Amino acid sequence: MICRILLLIILTSCVSGSFVVNVTQTSYQAEENHNITLEWTFTTKPDRSSKTLNIICELFVSDKSSVLYQVHEGVEVSESQDKKFSGRVQSDKDALREGRIRLQLSRLRTDDSGLYLCEVNTDYGFSVGRCQLNITAADQLQPQRPTTAESGGMTGFYSLMGVLAALLGLFVTLLVVFRNKARRQNPIAEIC
Ligand SMILES: *[C@@H]1O[C@H](CO)[C@@H](O)[C@H](O)[C@H]1NC(C)=O
Ligand SMILES: *[C@@H]1O[C@H](CO)[C@@H](O)[C@H](O)[C@H]1NC(C)=O
Ligand SMILES: *[C@@H]1O[C@H](CO)[C@@H](O)[C@H](O)[C@H]1NC(C)=O
Repeated sequence: MICRILLLIILTSCVSGSFVVNVTQTSYQAEENHNITLEWTFTTKPDRSSKTLNIICELFVSDKSSVLYQVHEGVEVSESQDKKFSGRVQSDKDALREGRIRLQLSRLRTDDSGLYLCEVNTDYGFSVGRCQLNITAADQLQPQRPTTAESGGMTGFYSLMGVLAALLGLFVTLLVVFRNKARRQNPIAEIC
């Protein structure tokens, strides 16, 4: 897989020339069960027929690749799509005509995380664009709650300290008042 990516990178830098595939974002972050739209843009030539357009978008995770989206000779093909993406990928055909590959991936799963590569092959050039997608598990957000509770706990601690300080102040005041009173009533107490 690494070899394949390296080969693609080498091919891209050698062959592409003026033909490019860009990503609008190099990395995406999303939460499980949400939707996300991944986007690539590629050089278009208005005078060329879209029949020569071939696209393959794949997810690479460690040593495995799975096809997300494919266009063969200008026509979307679904046969090659990996089962894990079945019914979860929606492409924007209008955007595609303008040289934008917009793929909405819905009901995100944590195993959708990885490197997404789109290879675009036309009769006027070939190139690849890649982006990273990270999906966080929905239950991973739970540990945020103890953080809130903790800060609430700290607030409680500070209020308690405040009350204690106030009580101490009151106690000292009372002590002084009583001592003065005692002194006035009984001058012998001054010895203490
Ligand atoms: C995700 O996409 C599906 C289908 O396109 C839609 O029905 C759903 O409302 C979307 N959910 C969110 C959270 O955007
Ligand atoms: C790709 O990105 C470069 C640099 O940002 C920009 O000049 C070029 O127009 C972009 N091409 C496409 C097809 O998006
Ligand atoms: C996605 O995950 C990888 C590996 O855990 C990490 O290196 C990268 O920074 C993450 N990207 C984002 C956008 O969070």
